[in-house]
Amino acid sequence: MSDLHSNIALIAAVSKNLAIGKDNDLLFYLPSDLKRFKRITTGHTIVMGRKTFQSLPNGALPNRRNIVITKSDDMLFEGCEVYHSVEAVLEAVKAESEVFVIGGGEIYRQFYPLASKLYLTMVHQNFEGDTFFPEVNFEEWEVSSREDLDDETNNFSYSNIDFKRILPV
Ligand SMILES: NC(=O)c1ccc[n+]([C@@H]2O[C@H](COP(=O)([O-])OP(=O)(O)OC[C@H]3O[C@@H](n4cnc5c(N)ncnc54)[C@H](OP(=O)(O)O)[C@@H]3O)[C@@H](O)[C@H]2O)c1
Repeated sequence: MSDLHSNIALIAAVSKNLAIGKDNDLLFYLPSDLKRFKRITTGHTIVMGRKTFQSLPNGALPNRRNIVITKSDDMLFEGCEVYHSVEAVLEAVKAESEVFVIGGGEIYRQFYPLASKLYLTMVHQNFEGDTFFPEVNFEEWEVSSREDLDDETNNFSYSNIDFKRILPV
């Protein structure tokens, strides 16, 4: 369990086939999910990849400590702290009680083995995407809360499921 970080959580909206995005955009617009995302992350630190930051319509998200990861030395992102490696981010957030990794695919993949919690919005339908959430072995996680919902605008059902890790990867 030594590589796990008790303060690292991943928060994502995923389709049945684990797609999370296409053409640097989201796959569906789910207002209730955006509200949930805001409620969970406000007041905390959020960590995102450079591409996800650039997909945000209005830049840094308010009332949160925004962290962007890029390999580029000369990029500035208004309202954000910038780090150049996963290790540098972990060092920068070590005093925080809960840190939300908000995507995208590359960033989820690297933080997944370190994370102790997942906050997933799971849409029960396949979507065509070009970016995916990492494969989750559900034997390693226990459900701490679950809510099953329908979205009439999109005409699909989805579940908000929070998980706690019970076994190391
Ligand atoms: N459904 C959801 O919940 C959700 C959430 C967020 C995003 N998304 C979607 O996901 C897609 C974007 O995901 P993505 O995988 O293409 O990109 P991403 O993970 O957002 O960003 C990738 C970038 O992060 C930087 N990076 C990655 N690993 C790094 C490391 N170890 N050290 C330093 N920098 C690192 C690199 O930036 P540089 O190239 O600048 O070096 C890399 O190009 C979009 O479609 C977005 O809409 C979906």
